[in-house]
Amino acid sequence: MRILGISGSLRRDSHNTRLLRAAARALPPAVELVIYDGLRELPPYDADLDVEPADPAVAALRRAITDADGILIATPEFNGSIPGVLKNALDWASRPFPGSSLSGKPVAVLGASTGLFGAAWAQAEVRQVLGVIGADVIDGELPIGQADSAFGEDGELLDPDQRALLGELVVVLAERAAAAGQPPAPHQPAGVAA
Ligand SMILES: Cc1cc2nc3c(=O)[nH]c(=O)nc-3n(C[C@H](O)[C@H](O)[C@H](O)COP(=O)(O)O)c2cc1C
Repeated sequence: MRILGISGSLRRDSHNTRLLRAAARALPPAVELVIYDGLRELPPYDADLDVEPADPAVAALRRAITDADGILIATPEFNGSIPGVLKNALDWASRPFPGSSLSGKPVAVLGASTGLFGAAWAQAEVRQVLGVIGADVIDGELPIGQADSAFGEDGELLDPDQRALLGELVVVLAERAAAAGQPPAPHQPAGVAA
């Protein structure tokens, strides 16, 4: 099973990308997390450019989402909201509507910021956007505040409670992704014993 990790930061030493790597290590062994690295290549959303064949970067994003069983988004918070590059990616991924690559896709959201509140507003907004898009948004957040001092040299979260919450969130995501990949149960006429 494959989870696609999307970091909302372009920064080389991003705490959010670090958080995704920690999440990858917390996943069950049969689940791989691949980090999407095409955010910088996406053009600004323009409906005039939203045609077939799609821009190669847009097509690659949509394909990566389609090929994944679930999505894990780690978002920073910029001025109390979603970074523009991440919102831009979600806008591209939301089209065509309905029936986009994100439609019904299990998605969990977490976030890190150097402020006290761990990108809590940005996480709430990303979940709201995903809900409008029609993704299967997993309840719960993981705000990593004061991110400059939240990680050890090995890249793991220093706080054991945060580590445990990260483990719980990715397991719920993996379970939801596994359930989404199951064929629907065969129709059982009413009154017929299994
Ligand atoms: C333009 C800008 C706005 C920011 N606004 C907020 C904010 O509203 N809340 C917050 O907690 N941190 C804010 N920060 C600090 C970011 O949380 C910090 O830069 C964080 O490390 C970015 O994530 P990254 O490490 O993944 O790149 C802001 C940073 C920038 C550059």
